[in-house]
Amino acid sequence: MEPEQTPVAPHESEAAASLARRLADNITQAVQIRERTLDHVLVALLAEGHILVEDYPGVGKTALARAIARSIDCQFARVQCTSDLLPADVVGTNVYDERAHRFEFRPGPVFANIVLVDEINRASPKTQSGLLECMQERSVTVDVQTHELARPFLVLATQNPIEYEGTYPLPEAQVDRFMVRVSLGYPSPVAEASMLSDHEAGDRVLSLAPIATAADVLAAQDAATRIQASKALRDYVVRLLWRTREDSRVDLGASPRAGLMLLRAAKANAMMQGRDHALPDDVQALAEPVLAHRLVLAPDTARTAAREVVGDAVSMVRAR
Ligand SMILES: Nc1ncnc2c1ncn2[C@@H]1O[C@H](COP(=O)(O)OP(=O)(O)OP(=O)(O)O)[C@@H](O)[C@H]1O
Ligand SMILES: [Mg+2]
Repeated sequence: MEPEQTPVAPHESEAAASLARRLADNITQAVQIRERTLDHVLVALLAEGHILVEDYPGVGKTALARAIARSIDCQFARVQCTSDLLPADVVGTNVYDERAHRFEFRPGPVFANIVLVDEINRASPKTQSGLLECMQERSVTVDVQTHELARPFLVLATQNPIEYEGTYPLPEAQVDRFMVRVSLGYPSPVAEASMLSDHEAGDRVLSLAPIATAADVLAAQDAATRIQASKALRDYVVRLLWRTREDSRVDLGASPRAGLMLLRAAKANAMMQGRDHALPDDVQALAEPVLAHRLVLAPDTARTAAREVVGDAVSMVRAR
């Protein structure tokens, strides 16, 4: 049986599409970012996913995370990962209050709305798993007490594409928790030149004004879950997943969780276009950013092949 869901009303999808447009306009006042990449970032925000940002230093990752937080008038926090960072440094800890004679929970940076986790692969596996667990659960349990995280809650974790010594690559199960992987890359020469001249007037991110509230984002997130997806569309997603599992370049293909995330992302994408139902186009637009980073490639396969595998699946599987 299909679960009962109130379909999205036209005013809801219009409000969400307008929110996405205003967000994109505002963020691009301060950050040079390709339109497609920004779309993927906004899809993750509206589909309640998290983002793995694979990039080199100094390309605007911090600027992007701060610009999102300012645009939606939300709290921002940054965590710099190092090998001695403890799980408690991220999630928080109980501290004894001398005067009140009791333990008080002191929340860690993960209790902000937009959390930038820099160089996640420098954190120890224990800290990584502590962080990734609360990303999934959206709550933190310390000494049997559970604390709910803020909403909206978006983690942008950065990772250098080159693996250095002394880093702990995220295990597959952890990578699978990120809805999308994006890279900002270098701006075009024209965009970079305009960035240089903009910057002479000071940091643009600091002068960004909010264009929405946390409540607006929550309403859009709720609407996104109610975008319709037909049985044919869900079958299409499953056939795409199977295509990645059967590809000879792949040791471990896309998981069922990957499929859930792809469908959720497709719905948010449909909503951003002002539609009340998702189409194969939405699935195709999100297939690479949602699926490629999860594939475990066969030995001696170039790392870039993951994108090709997904691209081939999209072109080979028919969206009947
Ligand atoms: N794409 C971009 N758009 C706008 N500003 C940018 C961009 N890339 C870099 N900058 C500017 O360059 C400086 C460094 O950017 P930022 O701190 O966001 O980079 P980062 O990717 O977070 O670097 P790191 O890897 O060192 O943390 C900032 O002043 C930022 O405003
Ligand atoms: Mg940074």
